[in-house]
Formats: sequence, C-alpha cells, structure tokens
Amino acid sequence: MRLFAAVVRAAFFCYHGKSKRGLIILNKELNQTAGEQMLFKKKKKLDMNNIPRHIAIIMDGNGRWARKRGLSRSMGHREGSVTLKKIVEACYNLGVKYLTVYAFSTENWSRPKEEVDELMKLLLEYLKNAEKELKGKNVRIRVIGDRKRLPAEIVSEIERVEEKTSHNDGLIFIIALNYGGRQEIVDAVNAIAEDIKNGNITEINEEVISQRLYTRDIPDPDLLIRTSGELRLSNFLIWQSSYSELFFSDVLWPDFTPKHLEEAILSYQGRQRRFGGLK
Ligand code: FPP
Repeated sequence: MRLFAAVVRAAFFCYHGKSKRGLIILNKELNQTAGEQMLFKKKKKLDMNNIPRHIAIIMDGNGRWARKRGLSRSMGHREGSVTLKKIVEACYNLGVKYLTVYAFSTENWSRPKEEVDELMKLLLEYLKNAEKELKGKNVRIRVIGDRKRLPAEIVSEIERVEEKTSHNDGLIFIIALNYGGRQEIVDAVNAIAEDIKNGNITEINEEVISQRLYTRDIPDPDLLIRTSGELRLSNFLIWQSSYSELFFSDVLWPDFTPKHLEEAILSYQGRQRRFGGLK
C-alpha cells in the first residue's frame, strides 16, 4: 500500500515535469538507502547458490539512533536487540550457516556503569528467552569471549542455552561477549606456550594458532558487515577476518533490516575472492 501511494505521488510529480523530484519522493517514502535505490533500479536478485557461509556483524550505531530521538542509549541497545532477532531470522531463512555478532567487547567495560548494566540485562533477557524467540527453529547458540568477568547469572544462562541448543545444526548463531580479538590471540599464544612446555607440539604454524582460538571449529567469516558508517574492525575477529569481504553500511544498527542484509550479500556476490592469488 505504501509502495502504491509513493508510486502515485511520484507519477504525479513526473507528469508535472518534475520527474527528478518524483523519483526522490519515491525513494524517500520507501526509506531506501542509496544502495537500495540502486537495487530497486537494477532489480538484482540474490544468487541462492552463493550465500556467504559465515556472516559476521559489528552492530554499531545504537547510541546515535537513540540520541537522534532524544532517548537514552539503553533504549538504542534495546531497539538494537529487536533488529538482531530479525537479522537472525533472515540469516536462517537465507541458509546462512554461521552468524557471529559483536554484542560486547572487552573495551565496552569502560562505558558508564548504567549502560554496561543495561547491556548485561538485555543479554540475560535474550538468553533467557532464546528458545521462545527461536520458535523451534534449528538454531544453535554459542558464545565466544572471556567468561571470567561476566556476572555468574549470565554465565549459567549461557551454559544452559548452549547445552539446550547443542543438537541443532541449521544456523550456528555465535554471540561475541566480552570478546576482544587481541585477547583471543594472547590466550592462544599462552595455550601454545603450555603445549610446547608439555612437549605436545614442536612447531608453530597458522593451523596451530587457529586451533587455539575461541573459533577453533568455526570457519572464517566470508562477509563482515559494520553498520553506522564507521570504517574499522574494532578488535573483532582480527585473525579470522584476514580474507573476509568487508561491507560498511551507513545505516544505524536499529534501522538495519533484512533488505539491508540482502544488499550486503548482493555486494558480496558481485566480488571476486582471490585469497591473495590470481583469477
Ligand atoms: C555499538 O553501538 C553496540 C554495542 C556496544 C552493543 C550491541 C548490542 C546489541 C545490539 C543488543 C544486545 C545484544 C544481544 C545479543 C541481545 P554503540 O553503542 O557504540 O553506538 P554509537 O556508536 O552510536 O554510540
């Protein structure tokens, strides 16, 4: 209906010799990004045989989304968790095998206590309601990161949900919580030192390091998305993303929709992955 009304209004402006304005109105009413406008014109379709196996997302922009509306940052995170549920569902429906999201970094502890407490509350709520939210879908939930600093209640909820969903093998949904890429590498190096001391290994190579990361049994991300217009990795999967395709969206995370996800996947499908070689 919205689309129909926008088309009628656009047609009116086109008829009156203001065709450009007509198009702008059409695009604005549909709340499209520049990328979506391109898709709209080209009508590109997703290649269902080339869906990224592993998508990683830096869900950035909750704070700015809230500020723009005169709301607290916590409200931005709350809205962000609603978006997350929709994106998990979209990934599941598209046949994505692994989805990893950056929910809380090792650096996020430096935020005001009120915001940290609210984020922990949201995470706890999410974990407690996970099975209900997933509505019997074949989704396995895993959590990566350092659990030592997390509240005991969250740790036991993580253990419960991981155990409860451990038999599922559809979408593997990985939540990076108190996660830091450098800390992950430090932990791996310490594990390697221990293995050398005990005589378990004699050589260090990439495989030896990969096998000691939190993601040891998870393939590297094919596509890494960051929302909100920021152009950095912020210590997220820094080892694993060496050959990931990067997609930066200007959309703030609470406004990110399954359509934007498709836009990112379309961009991925248009790229040639060479992994340092020639094609
Ligand atoms: C970054 O935006 C976002 C975070 C630090 C938290 C992400 C958390 C969620 C999306 C919701 C909870 C997650 C789960 C798994 C239930 P920002 O606060 O840095 O935004 P800003 O850059 O605009 O200030």
